[in-house]
Amino acid sequence: MPRRDETGDATRVVRAGHPETEPGEPFLPGPVFAAPFHSRGDPADSPYVYTRYGNPTWERYERALGELEDAEVVLFASGMAAVAAVLFTVLEPGEAAVLPSDCYLGVRALAEQQLARRGVEVSLVATAAMDASAVSEGTGLLWLESPSNPGLDVCDIAALAQTGHARVVAVDNTFATPLGQRPLDLGADLSVTSATKHLSGHADVMMGYVATRDPGLAQSLSDWRRTAGSIPGPFEAWLAHRSLATLELRLSRGCENAAAIAELLVARDDVRGVRYPGLASDPAHELAIRQMSRFGTIVSFDLGSRERADAFLAAAELITEATSFGGVHTSAERRARWGQDEVPDGFIRLSAGCEDPADLLADIERALAAPG
Ligand SMILES: Cc1ncc(COP(=O)(O)O)c(C=O)c1O
Repeated sequence: MPRRDETGDATRVVRAGHPETEPGEPFLPGPVFAAPFHSRGDPADSPYVYTRYGNPTWERYERALGELEDAEVVLFASGMAAVAAVLFTVLEPGEAAVLPSDCYLGVRALAEQQLARRGVEVSLVATAAMDASAVSEGTGLLWLESPSNPGLDVCDIAALAQTGHARVVAVDNTFATPLGQRPLDLGADLSVTSATKHLSGHADVMMGYVATRDPGLAQSLSDWRRTAGSIPGPFEAWLAHRSLATLELRLSRGCENAAAIAELLVARDDVRGVRYPGLASDPAHELAIRQMSRFGTIVSFDLGSRERADAFLAAAELITEATSFGGVHTSAERRARWGQDEVPDGFIRLSAGCEDPADLLADIERALAAPG
């Protein structure tokens, strides 16, 4: 195989994790469904004794993701299962955890509900204000999310990893994907991704993973998965792996569409607070240029009121109202409907899909004119 730095993203994803081709065999072998495998004698003689301990289908997808991350990958049943594995294996009672106050609401909820009662002090700091002063000595885990969901703020991953104040630095890389940002190259210990989003890309699979170059952390994460049981299903892992081949194509189109939508929105005086790290005028742009190789498919903006945001979503024909993102279909939601993010009532988070750019832009312009 050519070395990673000699091949492009599209080339790598097409065959990532595939075995050597064999006549009469598919490029990607089908899923292996087994709870107990047939096994005799000492169970230590085989990795395949019981699927909760190991399954060849999810291991193949882990190898594929490992090729993209240049790291060991531990796959989980969902992004949140991956987040939980990190929080519960890394932190010791008496340590502190620092998290973004504006990160994905599920991560904040898990930390706030579960860590304090386990003797871990949680402090929340806004992504845009996350700097060395936010992280004191004795911090067990610094959790970063860049760009943040839903506000699209960016923090300086390399600078924060280099302060050395936190024993472990983890980055939620879900918005960027490993093709858009490589937190481990920037000095993080763990890169966490919800593969429910762009990685699988068709809004039909839940999956998550953690990538690390630290064998000790990888071992404790896979030990956690084995005992806690947060394993991916073989069929879902196979579906996600099958979708990986088109990741670069989907991302390229999605990023192109997101950039065009951001340009359209920022030029209008009836749309406020447009955020997209790829916009030259965005407050996060300079930092994003330094650490991201693609600016992502997500754009956020404020339509000024709940009524106008609802009218926009109802009028748009090519935008499906949905809370997830990263799929081939353009989707959006009025984020304040959850009541758990500090965003204005008219704030929309939009995920650009793979539709024709001209059709999408025309639909958005039309929907913006809807009375609301
Ligand atoms: C940034 C981020 N991290 C983690 C998750 C959790 O992933 P999952 O929904 O696959 O459990 C999400 C879900 O939306 C997310 O947006």
